Amino acid sequence: MQFKDKVVLVTGASGGIGAGTAAAFAREGAKVMLADINIEQGKQRLAEIESAGGEAAFFCLDVASAEQMQTLINETVQRFGRLDIVHNNAGISGGNDFVAEVAEAEFDQIIAVNLKAVWLCMKYSIGQMLKQGGGVLINTASALSITALPGSAPYTATKHAVAGLTKTAAIEYGRQNIRINAVCPGVIRTAMLNNHPQLDEIEPKLLALHPAGRLGEIDEVVNAVLWLASDGASFMHGSLMTVDGGWTAV
Ligand SMILES: NC(=O)c1ccc[n+]([C@@H]2O[C@H](COP(=O)([O-])OP(=O)(O)OC[C@H]3O[C@@H](n4cnc5c(N)ncnc54)[C@H](O)[C@@H]3O)[C@@H](O)[C@H]2O)c1
Repeated sequence: MQFKDKVVLVTGASGGIGAGTAAAFAREGAKVMLADINIEQGKQRLAEIESAGGEAAFFCLDVASAEQMQTLINETVQRFGRLDIVHNNAGISGGNDFVAEVAEAEFDQIIAVNLKAVWLCMKYSIGQMLKQGGGVLINTASALSITALPGSAPYTATKHAVAGLTKTAAIEYGRQNIRINAVCPGVIRTAMLNNHPQLDEIEPKLLALHPAGRLGEIDEVVNAVLWLASDGASFMHGSLMTVDGGWTAV
């Protein structure tokens, strides 16, 4: 129960990595606000947490909306009294096009969800944490915050930008008792991978990138996020913590 009575917000909590961290924080005693655009799956995740004895709520939003993000932070504080930890995690992938072929609409959407929304969540969460005297924020970045992969330019650009946001904010708010870090997963088996239109073609290529000889599992990222949120990580500020089977060590 290392997060007993802590208030945790997880975006992208209806599936994948976010659903994993939301459930794990709840198991460790936290009060968890699950936030996602997918209401059906979100309600399922909420029911699972509650039936395991956890305390949680679900809020449906598009993370790219400033108004909805601000309402989410207000609702979380109204419901649970404060905001101690944020896992700023919602994200989308793109197609497999090279730079000259990327459609403008796809580029704009990836920027909105993977970059602008990450900043919005930081903006309003940090505002609340400043009022309370501290907090912890973990962004889900990517191995593609550090390296690059052909066919992923918009996604890679946003994840590099999330690294920049993480480091800048960590420098700005460290003295206000707000710790800000990012987790950088390699390829993890979630819907993001499984729903890829060219999965059969890309999976062997992705596998070959990981010196561990396999892709990652959700719990392997969840463990890193929970540690970054814990007092054990008290001197971690502005780090990009890779959980990538060695991909970026190559
Ligand atoms: N799976 C991987 O290989 C991998 C690797 C590195 C980084 N990541 C990052 O991890 C994070 C989580 O991804 P995942 O693999 O769990 O994917 P996922 O698709 O399983 O989960 C993403 C969640 O975000 C939600 N979401 C998407 N757009 C949203 C929006 N506009 N508003 C609110 N919610 C929205 C989805 O509904 C979904 O529940 C993302 O930021 C992703 O870029 C994933």
